Amino acid sequence: MRTTTKYIKACLSLVIALGVSAGAGAQELDAGKTIFAKNCAVCHQASGQGQDGLAPALTAYPARYASTEGGRALLANIALYGLLGAIQNGGKQYNGSMPSFRTMSDEELAGVLSYIALDLSGGKAAGSQPISADEVKARRAQNLTPTEVRHLREQVLKDAGL
Ligand code: HEC
Repeated sequence: MRTTTKYIKACLSLVIALGVSAGAGAQELDAGKTIFAKNCAVCHQASGQGQDGLAPALTAYPARYASTEGGRALLANIALYGLLGAIQNGGKQYNGSMPSFRTMSDEELAGVLSYIALDLSGGKAAGSQPISADEVKARRAQNLTPTEVRHLREQVLKDAGL
């Protein structure tokens, strides 16, 4: 009897723990979606499909980035420092300037990056992990230029075979 009670208690706490962590993840992605709509959609469009010649689509590459260490760092770097100069994305050419969003908190940037990587680019289906606030924080001290971020992006693309 006592063992049964213990077992039931253990099951209950597991269910509660899982419920809480799943809830927090969903909340973060919801917050990320709102931040995206307010700050990013003007250039990248509401569903992240981008605009030819102006801003690249975010519907494929961010999920790929989120699955490697270098790619995850790249996502944080793009949000913190921006991105400048000639790039290609899905066979299309861009030569624009993505502004820096470093005035946003680590949590806000982690939320919006997780949203584009998991929801917009289908990373959730592919099992990519969300970007954490600590990962964003770890990139803050570098003070990269947007051109340096572009060079890091080239390396990540090469490593990912994109
Ligand atoms: C003023 C327009 C503008 C806004 C606002 C903007 N971006 Fe960008 N973004 C760009 C441009 C332009 C590029 C490509 C830069 C280049 O050509 O070098 C880019 C590139 C990117 C990339 C790299 C895509 C790739 O192919 O590697 C990511 C990721 C990204 N933006 C995320 C965001 C997020 C997240 C936000 C909101 C917090 C945001 N952007 C807001 C214009 C914008």
